[in-house]
Amino acid sequence: MSEIITFSPSASLFGFGALKKLPDELESRGFKRVLIITDPQIARVGILQKVLDLLKGSFDVEVFDGAPTEPHSSDVDKQKQRFGSDFDALLGLGGGSSMDFAKALTIIMTHGGSLGDYLEEGSVPGPVLPVVCVPTTSGTGSQNTQTTVFTIEGVKRGASSEHIRPVVSIVDPELTMGLPPVVTRDSGYDALMHACESFLARPFSQVPERPILYQGSNPFSQGLALEAFRSIWGSYRTAISDGSNREARMGMSLGSHLAGLAFSHSGLGLVHALASSLGGMVDAPHGVCLAACTNIGLSYNLKTCEKKYFTLANYMGGDDGLDSSQTSPQSFLDNMLGLISDLGFPSRPSELGLKTEDAPTLLKNTLVQTRRIKTNPRPLDDELLSYIERGI
Ligand SMILES: [Fe+2]
Repeated sequence: MSEIITFSPSASLFGFGALKKLPDELESRGFKRVLIITDPQIARVGILQKVLDLLKGSFDVEVFDGAPTEPHSSDVDKQKQRFGSDFDALLGLGGGSSMDFAKALTIIMTHGGSLGDYLEEGSVPGPVLPVVCVPTTSGTGSQNTQTTVFTIEGVKRGASSEHIRPVVSIVDPELTMGLPPVVTRDSGYDALMHACESFLARPFSQVPERPILYQGSNPFSQGLALEAFRSIWGSYRTAISDGSNREARMGMSLGSHLAGLAFSHSGLGLVHALASSLGGMVDAPHGVCLAACTNIGLSYNLKTCEKKYFTLANYMGGDDGLDSSQTSPQSFLDNMLGLISDLGFPSRPSELGLKTEDAPTLLKNTLVQTRRIKTNPRPLDDELLSYIERGI
């Protein structure tokens, strides 16, 4: 166990209009030759062009607009030869997949090999070509984390290293204004669960020292996670039902950004571990898998986290977290399940095609998610299988 807490935030700019600052941020870091990683949708809706216009004349820019949603490790490995390492920086522009693609690509562009070589904690051997991020959704918070997530051998895994934490991110809620409701819903649930699981994470004093900063909940992550939760819970439903509501979009952008920073210092937990396993078994977005695994994960942890569930329940009721009408830890879980139902999410893995007999496989794939389960508040024990069987 460690008594030392590490704070490792990167620079970021937040607010409507922040995108305009991108050239200054690149310039001040000496990034003249930039490889933009984005996806076809970002190109289609004009955001890529907006960025290219900002950079025109002063930067040497190359664009890869083929980042797939929910990338497989082989998608990234395939691109390694295509680009030399003759860049000053990579710019991840888009949702989590584009940003994660940039973070994954920089590892193998710099250090060679394939992504599968970097699954172990601490296996990125040194600095990489720096990554800059401009998120266009309010979800993953990848612009503020040291992790890239991809599917490998049927399981969602990731590589984590402080070397791949973006050196600067520009978070401009304007870029999220045109997001369709289903994208706002799915990405927003990811952000909400980051805030929850970061807040609920095992205390840092109970987490053995490890080569990545998932050090358990600590004074730095706790404040960020609660503020993220307050911000997301207060804007989520409105951002879905009224995408042009600037206040709701700002709340989601800020909340997802803070939640990313929070969990990158605390780690996450069982809901994410289960959802990552489920995501490797079925074809569904990360946010949808999280929703389907919420009941199993939060029910399993309830007894260990009663006080914290109570705190989150109160934050659901009032802006300041002082709504004492929420009188039980169970009401946090009930409100989360009510939200899942109201938003039309699947509430259990069977709604995504899993059967009860898949429970041992889901468990097996979950137990390899060590980045997540080492910080789950309740250690994983034999009872988990029955929670999964009942919850499927
Ligand atoms: Fe997530």
